[in-house]
Amino acid sequence: MSPGPSEFLQVGHLILKPAMVQLPHLDSLGRESCRLMHGRGGCLPGFEHVAIDWFAPTLLVTFHAEKEANHPMVDQLIEAASKASEVAAIVVQERHLRGAPKRTVHGKLPDDPIACESGLRYHLNLHRNQNHGFFLDMKPGRDWIRENASGRRVLNLFAYTCSLSVAAIAGGAESVINLDMASSALASGRENHRLNFDSERCRRASYHAHDLFKSWGKLKRGAPYDIIVIDPPSNQPGSFVAEKDYGKVLRRLPELTHSETRILSCLNAPHLNEAFLTDQLPGYRLELRLPRANGFEDLHQESALKCMIFIPPA
Ligand SMILES: C[S@@+](CC[C@H](N)C(=O)[O-])C[C@H]1O[C@@H](n2cnc3c(N)ncnc32)[C@H](O)[C@@H]1O
Repeated sequence: MSPGPSEFLQVGHLILKPAMVQLPHLDSLGRESCRLMHGRGGCLPGFEHVAIDWFAPTLLVTFHAEKEANHPMVDQLIEAASKASEVAAIVVQERHLRGAPKRTVHGKLPDDPIACESGLRYHLNLHRNQNHGFFLDMKPGRDWIRENASGRRVLNLFAYTCSLSVAAIAGGAESVINLDMASSALASGRENHRLNFDSERCRRASYHAHDLFKSWGKLKRGAPYDIIVIDPPSNQPGSFVAEKDYGKVLRRLPELTHSETRILSCLNAPHLNEAFLTDQLPGYRLELRLPRANGFEDLHQESALKCMIFIPPA
């Protein structure tokens, strides 16, 4: 299962280039979490419904559709994993099925699975049928905030399990306010801070389980912020629908910013392009486009997660 660069790998009924699939490298995976196969990016015809992630020592295979190739692929992975001591377990999640069930198809899952990134650690939920709690494609956002947060006051909107807050505090942020309507996600976020920091640094983060659209008053009282993160879902009916709601958030920014505030604005909606954001921020300067995360190659640049840094009008 370790072909050279000019050889090809058979996955199910298809023959794929190893350089694109990376499945052969099971025996040389390190501790760093990463995406091994990103079918959704469209670079692997026939595998648009598959993602494979490495959360040492576990491989997570996510299917978004039932296809003939799924079973042979899992069999092939199990065979490869049984020869690679680094892989202790393989978990398959079938997102197309009701409740998105997960099952361990090989080995034994660690009791407390962890994602590792740049020396920081994050709890993963691989035992239960839900989202696992850590978005690998947000790595450039975490890298950026870690490099820019020293001494800053951060507002992390749509915080989820607070990975951006952990990265900000690792980078020396003075304080981070994490807001998300899902209290269970914020509870995991609190645990993620405890996993990485002593109690003094943990106290720099606070957690607010509120609907953003009912929280402006509270947020205004803590303003202005030096860094504001906006990373909403693309379509969570009843809570946030990008086309309808992103503009409402952007219009409130002047109440929360000063002239030097950096706004990390993210958009993970394949059907919406960059102009969707820039058009709604007249006068704001686009300072930086963050690069796409390694492993998330996408045939259509505009479909991938977009992360942009804006500065308010002078
Ligand atoms: C894409 S996730 C955020 C991911 C996070 N920034 C990270 O990097 O891990 C979107 C989050 O927005 C939250 N959310 C959706 N609508 C909301 C609203 N109206 N107010 C507050 N939070 C909301 C969801 O609960 C979810 O946790």
